[in-house]
Amino acid sequence: MPAEGFDADVAIFACSHRAGGNSDAAAALLASGVAQAGATARVLALRDYSVLPCLACRACAAHGQSRCVLAGKDQAEELFAVLMRAPVVLFASPIYFYALPSLCKTWVDRSQRFWEARRKGDPWVLTLRERAAYACFVAGQPTGQKLFDGARLTLKYFLVNFGLALGEPLGLRGLDGRDDLAANAEASRLVLQQGREAGQRALEAAHSA
Ligand SMILES: Cc1cc2nc3c(=O)[nH]c(=O)nc-3n(C[C@H](O)[C@H](O)[C@H](O)COP(=O)(O)O)c2cc1C
Repeated sequence: MPAEGFDADVAIFACSHRAGGNSDAAAALLASGVAQAGATARVLALRDYSVLPCLACRACAAHGQSRCVLAGKDQAEELFAVLMRAPVVLFASPIYFYALPSLCKTWVDRSQRFWEARRKGDPWVLTLRERAAYACFVAGQPTGQKLFDGARLTLKYFLVNFGLALGEPLGLRGLDGRDDLAANAEASRLVLQQGREAGQRALEAAHSA
């Protein structure tokens, strides 16, 4: 059963700036895998949301509820509400310059207020339920030992402030053209499998809640 305040068992964030490319294909496959496991998914494309960059004003550090001065001026908080409530969270993202795409990183930076709230020991953030997160990264290069490290570390330390523990990401290489993932049966199988695992995890979490 979906958590209160969120209408699905799994939230899937599609992080590419390119619509209809490999990350979107991955998000659709992940959603299919979730459905195969008997759970429900909602895909959110970050490019459909307006998110302003963090001003580094540190107002959140001084505010009693760690409020951001930009709250209500864009949709960052709407997206954070999903991270706070979704039973399981998935990210489907391309690698840009060994990192998360700038739209996604802009949103990550805006979560500084959650980091501040944790540092201050605010109960509203410390009592968030511990949950699982998954990532599926797609990259154009076929090689590069540390190709996924930057994105993995940023995502891990972003999500931890929401009570989300990131598992070992699925890193797919050599996918550059818009349809490369769709044309790659083995890569598609791995993504579908990751979706199934996330769906099962959501159902298990619902049973143990
Ligand atoms: C700005 C930009 C930077 C990129 N940097 C990298 C990179 O550092 N390493 C890599 O393997 N691929 C890189 N790529 C290629 C993308 O990761 C690849 O095309 C991916 O399939 C895009 O996913 P999408 O179809 O979901 O947009 C870059 C692409 C763009 C547009």
